[in-house]
Amino acid sequence: MERTISFTLNGKPTQVSVDDERMLLWVLRGELGLEGTKFGCGEGLCGSCTVIVDKTAVRSCVTPVKDAAGRQVITIEGLSQSGKLSPLQESFVKHNAFQCGYCTPGMVVNAHALLLQKPHASREEIIKAMDDNLCRCGAQTRILDAIEEVAKGGAR
Ligand code: FES
Ligand code: FES
Repeated sequence: MERTISFTLNGKPTQVSVDDERMLLWVLRGELGLEGTKFGCGEGLCGSCTVIVDKTAVRSCVTPVKDAAGRQVITIEGLSQSGKLSPLQESFVKHNAFQCGYCTPGMVVNAHALLLQKPHASREEIIKAMDDNLCRCGAQTRILDAIEEVAKGGAR
């Protein structure tokens, strides 16, 4: 059913008129022009489409936009402030925590959600939280190192 959905997107009040069953991924990339959130499997299995809804990481490819109504949505575009990368983004760069980069937005956003809930997450907690985000390029160890440095308060 087409209707107007209102939510906060990266800190800004946002309204979009769409089929309320349309997946959030396609509304973000299509109607709202935020293409940082990536399409991978489309079945909730790879994590490349991860966004944050009310401080929780969700897979936007299997989340109808109606589920975002009235909530706070954060995408990869919302992590940098005034053109300055977030500490996690800086740490990913420092640790070369990517190769092709396709999984990176989902990785960074998933890690951001973890650190919102557990700012000083342990290596084991980071591994558990990131386990279902897939990287085909084999950058997992460097990704974990990048997140752990931020969790330890070491990224500048
Ligand atoms: S594209 Fe959403 S989990 Fe893979
Ligand atoms: S850097 Fe290529 S899929 Fe992760």
